[in-house]
Amino acid sequence: MKIQPVRGTHDVFGKNISKYNKICEEVDRIARLFSFLEIQTPIFESTNLFSKPLGEASDVVLKEMYTFLDKSGDSLTLRPEYTTPIIRAAISNNLINSLPCKLFGIGPMFRRERPQKGRYRQFSQINFENFGTEDTLADVELIHLANKILKSLLPNIKINLYLNSLGDKDTLKIYKNKLSIYFKQNKRFLSKESQSKVESNPIRILDSKISEDKNLISKAPLLIEFLSKDALRKYEDIKKLLKKLNINYFEDNSLVRGLDYYCHTVFEFKTSSLGSQDTLIGGGRYDGLIKSLGGKDIPGIGWAGGIERIILLMNNVSDNLNLIHFAILHEKFKEHALLAYNLLIDNNYSVYWNFKYNLKKSLSKASESKARFILIIGEEEFKIKKFKIKDLKTGHQKLVNIDSILKFVK
Ligand code: HAM
Repeated sequence: MKIQPVRGTHDVFGKNISKYNKICEEVDRIARLFSFLEIQTPIFESTNLFSKPLGEASDVVLKEMYTFLDKSGDSLTLRPEYTTPIIRAAISNNLINSLPCKLFGIGPMFRRERPQKGRYRQFSQINFENFGTEDTLADVELIHLANKILKSLLPNIKINLYLNSLGDKDTLKIYKNKLSIYFKQNKRFLSKESQSKVESNPIRILDSKISEDKNLISKAPLLIEFLSKDALRKYEDIKKLLKKLNINYFEDNSLVRGLDYYCHTVFEFKTSSLGSQDTLIGGGRYDGLIKSLGGKDIPGIGWAGGIERIILLMNNVSDNLNLIHFAILHEKFKEHALLAYNLLIDNNYSVYWNFKYNLKKSLSKASESKARFILIIGEEEFKIKKFKIKDLKTGHQKLVNIDSILKFVK
């Protein structure tokens, strides 16, 4: 049997690596426009960084973390998400001394979920966070940024933005109680999985995709009815500002998100082009999280997007447009070829050579790799110290000396 990657993991190469790199480039470009600074953190952290903030009753913590003891007996976890590690890094490196602190990171995350299209055990996230401001403009800025990135990478895909407000932490507590009572009274109509959450995490039942649960969920009390005046005002303000930017949204009062740290604004960008794993980007506000990790009592807001899901929807990235293929027809012409090889590389042209010393094979490789030019070094070219170069797009061909190669390919 051929050796295979671990279940739920995959190798990225060919067209997908071009797409991956294009995503990183676009994210970097747009992050600069909005003045977010890049950060990279280790892929493993102490387990307790994740267990409490993500919610000890949440699926991510209960079932999905890759946790192990290292040789000194410390419990470590491969990061299942990026918000808590970025907060940890901002605290460790005193980055939150000057606010607002706007950071972004890209990298692999690990969750032991059941693999399917768009859902993997190792996947990559783009993650943006803004620490230190309650201003609704920060919510709008992050949504605007997410919208810009998706529009730029997936111009032809229909993507909808869904929005909700969870209110402040006290409201959430009251609502959780109400919801728990409601689901307890109707427990027999719930799926087994949701029944187990009635006491510990009733809000998460609203997230359930199981059809048995849908009817009860549709009649559950709505969080929006419990929001304080202040929370409602903030929510209205965000909607008004989004309209100003012509960003369309749908309100979804049952949107609660899968992690425990959220309050106030929550949002998701979804598409119907992906199947069941349809969320491209999800995020929201989290008051109290930074303090609970040992930082100042400041609010935060952010989002994360799944790179693999974006790749599944992206058009191919055209690259190698100026690739120059070398057809060296005998080993003894290598040294002569090297002069042109070196000149082209020094001038930022991509070159390729298939080690075959055969014109027919070189021509077919050049056409397969969509090379723009072919540079031929045969007996005659070698003798007169020239190069034959052909533009494969126009068919134009010329015998040139080393000084004229650049003029031809320009
Ligand atoms: P999340 O909803 O768990 O949020 O993940 C965000 C995005 O990561 C999802 O919408 C999806 O595109 C991608 N994703 C999640 N799990 C997988 C998987 N197993 N395979 C492939 N893609 C996946 C968070 O992680 C929060 N930390 C977001 C956040 C940042 N909230 C505030 N700041």
